[in-house]
Amino acid sequence: MSDSNLKDKIDLNRLPKHIATIMDGNGRWAKSKGKVRVFGHKNGVKAVREITEGCAELGVPYLTLYAFSTENWQRPKLEVNALMSLLVNTIESEIKTLQDNNIKLQAIGDISKLPEKTRNSLLRGIEDTRNNTRMTLILALNYSSRWELTQGMQRIAEKVSRDELKPADINEHVISEHLATQGIPDPELMIRTSGELRISNYLLWQLAYAELYFTEVLWPDFRKENLYQAILDFQGRERRFGKTGEQVVS
Ligand code: IPE
Ligand code: IPE
Ligand code: MG
Repeated sequence: MSDSNLKDKIDLNRLPKHIATIMDGNGRWAKSKGKVRVFGHKNGVKAVREITEGCAELGVPYLTLYAFSTENWQRPKLEVNALMSLLVNTIESEIKTLQDNNIKLQAIGDISKLPEKTRNSLLRGIEDTRNNTRMTLILALNYSSRWELTQGMQRIAEKVSRDELKPADINEHVISEHLATQGIPDPELMIRTSGELRISNYLLWQLAYAELYFTEVLWPDFRKENLYQAILDFQGRERRFGKTGEQVVS
């Protein structure tokens, strides 16, 4: 089926407000071509452009991309360094496109631990695009859900110890407000590429009721058409939120 056919089938009134993606399979993509893993990461940038543009064109307000996990530091130093400089180059070369398309850049994760150059270009990108309103693109960078929940709990505990907050007043809203995604609606659709069927420490709290979509497509091959397919799949599902099917239909 062609691109435009799939796109036309999407109900624009029922778009997910937030799509979260685990961009996976770069290494295997490169290996299948007899190349080094970094070649796969470089070729993943095209897919980042496609999904960002695809979401912006449809009108999806929030898109989060898992770019580097706290666990990814355990990879060979050469690969980690290459990923960090690829991030710098990509952010710097894409800022203009983000500006032209009115897209705001944000980040979740422990930014303070990133190499200075990477952190600086990220902060510059965030600063330059902060007034943009069409869509928010969130990079999960040095992110993991357990890190996020831990730092959130620490901050809540500090408030309790200073008598600024009573334990009985800690509710779901308070917890959400102490996460890196503060103010961002929970993802309704989570897409993971490359056939891996796991969450890998990603948005554990926020994905509580997300629809999960897994595809065999390796990240560097991901195109708008694959995004449309995922959204159509999402729109075909019945989201019950604990109710019965009959309740949801009526
Ligand atoms: C995802 O691709 C990119 C990052 C985690 C940075 P991988 O590098 O995990 O690719 P595979 O899973 O080894 O194929
Ligand atoms: C998850 O991918 C992290 C990112 C996409 C940045 P990984 O490829 O690192 O995940 P695992 O470790 O195989 O689950
Ligand atoms: Mg992987």
